[in-house]
Amino acid sequence: MRRDVSSSGCGEAVRPSENATVCFQTASLPETDYLDFYAIKEQTDMKNILLINGPNLNLLGTREPQIYGADTLADVERRLIESAAGRGVAVQCFQSNSEGGLVDRIHAARDEGVDAVIINAGAYTHTSVAIRDALAGVAIPFVEVHISNVHRREPFRHHSYLSDLAEGVIVGLGVYGYEAALDFLIRRQG
Ligand code: DQA
Repeated sequence: MRRDVSSSGCGEAVRPSENATVCFQTASLPETDYLDFYAIKEQTDMKNILLINGPNLNLLGTREPQIYGADTLADVERRLIESAAGRGVAVQCFQSNSEGGLVDRIHAARDEGVDAVIINAGAYTHTSVAIRDALAGVAIPFVEVHISNVHRREPFRHHSYLSDLAEGVIVGLGVYGYEAALDFLIRRQG
């Protein structure tokens, strides 16, 4: 299978064993080269990403594991930090059970020059105009993540005060959703 990729450029290979500069110039690449194209270190604008988790997500790993899985929040945060660091991106992590704490952290993100936010606002997703307004107020692009598929759960979880402002919404992929959000933000330009 071939896909058209009209691009050219140079980049540092991500895999340590391929720690070399790779140059490419092609209008059409076979599938394997297409994948290598994405393995090349991104020239990303996203240098500073903030991961925010809301109420009860500090209980990950022990909280309703049949819904949220066995990984702890520390596991999730470590994986994100490591995977971002390998791509030249810094991830800061924050969790709070209080709405005001989350609003204050979002405000601080603007002063810190955070480029993008990954947020799982937990139950506040479904209730908080304040968190919505904070995200709108700082105007930092964000991806909304939910570990569970909220649309397959109780009706009160189907509405989000954040989704229409988000760059994207990831639901139901388990904790992998956080990594998918990170990958999306790093690849996304502008
Ligand atoms: C959640 C879904 C919310 O409805 C719930 O209140 C949470 C977690 C999720 O990640 O699936 O706390 O955001």
